[in-house]
Amino acid sequence: MSLPFPVLTPEEAAAMINNGDTIGFSGFTPAGACKMIPQALAARAKTEHAAGRPFKVGVVTGASTGPSLDGALAEAEAIAWRTPYQSNATLRRQINEGKTRFFDMHLSALQPTVRSGVFGKFQWAVVEAARVTPNGEVTLTTSVGATNTFLRLADRVLLEINSSHPESLTGFHDLYEPADPPFRREIPIYTTSDRIGSPVMKLDPKKIAGIVYTNKPDETAGFDAPDEVTNKIGENVAEFLAAEVRSGRIPASFLPLQSGVGNIANAVIGALGANSGIPPFTMFTEVIQDSVLELVYTGKCRFASGTSLTLSAEQLAKFKANLEHFRSRIVLRPQEITNSPELVRRLGLITINTALELDLFGNVNSTHVMGRDLMNGIGGSGDFTRNAHISIFTCPSVAKNGAISTIVPLVAHVDHSEHSVQVAVTEHGVADLRGKTPHERAVLIIEKCVHPEYRDLLRAYLALSNRGHVPQTLANCFRMHSTFIEGGDMRKVQWVK
Ligand code: COA
Repeated sequence: MSLPFPVLTPEEAAAMINNGDTIGFSGFTPAGACKMIPQALAARAKTEHAAGRPFKVGVVTGASTGPSLDGALAEAEAIAWRTPYQSNATLRRQINEGKTRFFDMHLSALQPTVRSGVFGKFQWAVVEAARVTPNGEVTLTTSVGATNTFLRLADRVLLEINSSHPESLTGFHDLYEPADPPFRREIPIYTTSDRIGSPVMKLDPKKIAGIVYTNKPDETAGFDAPDEVTNKIGENVAEFLAAEVRSGRIPASFLPLQSGVGNIANAVIGALGANSGIPPFTMFTEVIQDSVLELVYTGKCRFASGTSLTLSAEQLAKFKANLEHFRSRIVLRPQEITNSPELVRRLGLITINTALELDLFGNVNSTHVMGRDLMNGIGGSGDFTRNAHISIFTCPSVAKNGAISTIVPLVAHVDHSEHSVQVAVTEHGVADLRGKTPHERAVLIIEKCVHPEYRDLLRAYLALSNRGHVPQTLANCFRMHSTFIEGGDMRKVQWVK
């Protein structure tokens, strides 16, 4: 099909972008992230910098992206400001060194905030697509994220048409943008598989400044095989949920599941699939990872709604080879829909996310190591946790070969408060915090979740205080952190009496 849009090299496309522009890039995880134009833009920035000219752009994406986008632009020191979630090592270092402005956001809030004008004008949407028609109908690829909003609001659009994605992806997406207050109505999704929008993004073709052809696969790194610890965490979550079904606290038909990103989340979903006490379920989640796709393939997961297909090369090949099987079982939606607090609460989600650290009373830190250094960002964990029917946090009980206990007296940074966190799970067991006082929570967490090497230390911490509703001791509550920062091992902590 001949298209009425200029065909550009990545360099020609990058040359259209000016210093100081704000760009909305497609991509939610490396899935569906642009690959060629950001690399060319990074090269351009390096040339400009070498000539003594400034060149930096504002970078807004759905969430994290791949090495060709965040990696290349960060390495070229071409990012003036960045939001929301990111997970690139170079960019993380620049943010923590104060060289790149980064502010974090709940992912459900990104699209409404972009629409509100808080970030100013978007000069560009730079978007990966599987297909575009002459009248401007765009089929996205393996993610939606915030791309539909970027495409609609940006002054001009550059498309990367990536033939590594089949054109027959048309039909997997369900693009819907709610009206903004005071005109917003309920989002009319009542079961995980409901479709409410358009399979393609309808653009004014005049906005398309050019297209770049490419054939580059998504840059997803893949997942570690589950190990003893992640397997045990997965089994503990599965056993807990199976017991909830037996007790009738979760209906026999089960409730939709959300699960977070990374290796632990991947292992947890695998364990849920293997547990005969868990009936076939649906997922109303953000990221559809390898283990979810596998369960959709086998039928244990009846339907998966998400905003990205973040799959290893093997699972992506399986997806493409079985496209027709998955067509009626998977939908990709914008992130303001997958993560909508309204839908999470109304559909009654069971949410499972990973913590960096958890405290004795149920507060969770997902984002800042030792309270200071950004890891990735809050992502969707706040959208889901705060509104869940049952909110679960998982983490290994220790990090850095035992030198860090992930369970501490008080988290050094709070992303999810004790009011939102209901269940804590490590490889040692499950602490069901619902209906428990702060003191009862602390005892449960120590006995069920803390690593045996740290139990006596934390029992001693609890014994320091015999008054108040929360048995906290301000002179000691960050002593495990400061002991690690000073001496490299939390086990050496000495409580001040
Ligand atoms: N203090 C210091 N470091 C810690 C730590 C702690 N309490 N707990 C873990 N770490 C370290 C680990 O040792 C590891 O470091 P290493 O890579 O040098 O070994 C690193 O932090 C975590 O490793 P990673 O493999 O990235 O863990 P993960 O894939 O299980 O991810 C989070 C865990 C919390 C970083 C990740 O889930 C996240 O970013 N969450 C926030 C967003 C979210 O929940 N999104 C899902 C919503 S849909």
